Amino acid sequence: MALDEFLAELDQLAAQADKAFGSAGGAEAVEAARVEFLGAKSGRLRAVQKGLGKVDKADKPAAGKRFNEVKNQVEAALVAATDRLKNAASGARTGSQFDPTIPGVRRRLGRLHPITQTIEELTDIMGRLGFTVAEGPEVEDLWHNFEALNIPLEHPARDPLDNFYLATGAVGAGPDRADAAGADRQKWLLRSQTSTVQIRVMEKTKPPVRIISLGRVYRPDTADATHYPMFHQIEGLLIDRHVTMADLKSILHLFAASFFQDDVEVRFRPSFFPFTEPSVEVDMSYDGGWIEFGGAGMVDPNVLASVGYDPDEVSGLAFGLGIERICARRHGVTDIREFFKNDVRFLRQFH
Ligand code: DAH
Repeated sequence: MALDEFLAELDQLAAQADKAFGSAGGAEAVEAARVEFLGAKSGRLRAVQKGLGKVDKADKPAAGKRFNEVKNQVEAALVAATDRLKNAASGARTGSQFDPTIPGVRRRLGRLHPITQTIEELTDIMGRLGFTVAEGPEVEDLWHNFEALNIPLEHPARDPLDNFYLATGAVGAGPDRADAAGADRQKWLLRSQTSTVQIRVMEKTKPPVRIISLGRVYRPDTADATHYPMFHQIEGLLIDRHVTMADLKSILHLFAASFFQDDVEVRFRPSFFPFTEPSVEVDMSYDGGWIEFGGAGMVDPNVLASVGYDPDEVSGLAFGLGIERICARRHGVTDIREFFKNDVRFLRQFH
């Protein structure tokens, strides 16, 4: 066979193999091309190789060299096609074929709950007025929740329907008033007011006292736009010589003006709480009207006496305000149940 003829046959095979491997779109097509060109028994390269024997003796070295080149080229085309398919598959899995036009997945930062944010801000404001934070337990005994606050046994505020008593101690009347204090220290409830902390602080501290306490309180109220069985209060207590109602009003006004940062007004309405005398209901101006924020008053001498203070020596002011209402008023929230649903679409508005 003439050399020209042999080389032409090789060139044609090389071109066809390139095309077959280059256009193979899947593993099966690559395998088919491998069998066609590189198959050990009946592959086309094998067939061409047989023709090598018929080439003129003088032309054999040139023919053999070219045959080896083409064989290497076809083998390389097989490897390239296999790699190409492998990369396409893993690219789809790992996203290494990065498409910068696809919208990203946004990672949102968490933030503090609006009630927690309000607590921190109120703590800050009252801190500037010289009040430090005191804490008390949420599971409280009846002495601190009622008796020491001048709420006697027969008082309706003790009604089991208005309190979460705990089953660990019997509820209700002791045989007589003299026993009440001792018995009350062994009966428990979820505190219904943060006023309990007033007693806890005064029991361990000599006057003067200037504290706030912020935390959860519990009452079996049906949840609606303004009630929830658990809510938060900020309690304030100031005991010193010559404390007056004027101090109470100016502290509450400073407090409200600092928090709402506008010309908020504070109004007192006469009221009654067993632990204050006189007692007032505290309203703040809002949107042309008034909103009730809680109660306040001058600490009742009976309360001072119950913790061993001398009512002739010292007097005090106290207040207890609802934190949900303060927070809702600031942000225009009309239903306090929103604070406790933990719906992130609601919560992420507060920052
Ligand atoms: N403890 C009262 C309540 O939960 C609020 C309150 C009224 C607290 C008068 C006070 C106060 O400290 O002086 O309804």
